[in-house]
Amino acid sequence: MADVLYVNGGTPLSGSVRVRGAKNFVSKAMVAALLGESPSVLRNVPQIRDVGVVTGLLELHGVRVDADAEAGTLVLDPTDVESAHVADIDAHAGSSRIPILFCGPLLHRLGEAFIPDLGGCRIGDRPIDYHLEILRQFGAVVDKREQGIHIRAPRRLQGTRISLPYPSVGATEQLLLTAVRAEGITELRNAAIEPEIMDLIAVLQKMGAIISVDTDRVIRIEGVDRLEGFNHTALSDRIEAASWASAALATGGDVLVEGATQPEMMTFLNTFRKVGGEFEVRDDGIRFYHPGGDLRSIVLETDVHPGFMTDWQQPLVVALTQATGLSIVHETVYENRFGFTEALRGMGATIQVYKECLGGGECRFGQRNFHHSAVISGPTPLAAADIEVPDLRGGFSHLIAALAAKGTSTVRGIGLIDRGYEHFGDKLLALGADVSRD
Ligand code: EPZ
Repeated sequence: MADVLYVNGGTPLSGSVRVRGAKNFVSKAMVAALLGESPSVLRNVPQIRDVGVVTGLLELHGVRVDADAEAGTLVLDPTDVESAHVADIDAHAGSSRIPILFCGPLLHRLGEAFIPDLGGCRIGDRPIDYHLEILRQFGAVVDKREQGIHIRAPRRLQGTRISLPYPSVGATEQLLLTAVRAEGITELRNAAIEPEIMDLIAVLQKMGAIISVDTDRVIRIEGVDRLEGFNHTALSDRIEAASWASAALATGGDVLVEGATQPEMMTFLNTFRKVGGEFEVRDDGIRFYHPGGDLRSIVLETDVHPGFMTDWQQPLVVALTQATGLSIVHETVYENRFGFTEALRGMGATIQVYKECLGGGECRFGQRNFHHSAVISGPTPLAAADIEVPDLRGGFSHLIAALAAKGTSTVRGIGLIDRGYEHFGDKLLALGADVSRD
């Protein structure tokens, strides 16, 4: 598919778009299907590239995947799970970090797993040390080789007690997917409790797992001998919903995001309102709109749930370029998530990035040479530009900037945006944007 989008900006987005299941849940639920002794059915699955990547990875491991893409339904049959070649996994995984989550299920089913070099968005080093330490604590043997990492379970994995140094989403999922079939009880402290993780726990419980979520980020799992398939409808994508909300605000528009849900977006909604945006929670979704007048600058810190998500930060920063005064954004989840602001500066935004922890408490990136705070001074008109998409969320933010800017921008590398935004070109057209893909 063509990789360039021409955006003739300056028109407020207006109309409705529909969001389906969350990218960062659907991919994990697909992996969970590997743990069942019978087929699983997953609904509300979006047509995004990451779903295609996980489908391919599952097929490489002998899982039969039947998709009804229009209906958004996947049937995953793990009856004939088998080992895959590391070179095939590597070739297929592309930039995805999902292969690391195959480890627990494959160790239970086959006694071994391979992980190639892992990609993901260029938003910091994104190490996998927590994941490997978790697998070791369950009794797996981790062997780093030239082609990747080989992991094996000499005997049945054993429940364990683990405390994460940071409430990592992926590491919490790693632990859940491994502990549910390990022998005995596992206790995780300092766990991530994002809504996507709660939905994964719901899936695992449907499969037969015993998991309790206690106060203070403690999760306890009692291992079981056997899990069955699940039948589940994915929670909706709160990152995509917030991205359209920010696009509505930055362009002075009015967008109904069908499928968006309030409980998972409370923190975003508070911030959206503080900036001067308005919203209306409806039965079919949430309508986000610019009510007129000036937008207000804010001080914002990203954090793990229930804080303000790091993935909401980039799209909102574009809207903040249109707010009056100085906004401060402190990114505390990733050390390097302001690279996308360079293109915004080229379009006329006034944004400075700093190594210091600004606008909030000290975070683990303070005093460590990471440009992880940004000061945005607005409002500044944005001018059209020729932009290269850096990563998924940064790329969507560039798209928002192009939609807000006067003139025609050329946005290159938009294939990256297909990883997580279903049919975004069609949705832009439906919202009245003047865009064409080449
Ligand atoms: C998930 O990434 C999401 N990806 C990310 O979304 C999201 O930004 C992130 O969670 C935080 O919400 C998927 O679900 C596929 P983490 P994940 O482990 O699990 C450090 C998007 O655009 N860390 O919570 O990889 C890490 O470097 C993507 O949709 C270690 O140090 O994130 C980071 O600073 C981007 N060692 C922090 O923890 C480890 O072994 C949080 O990362 C693992 C993580």
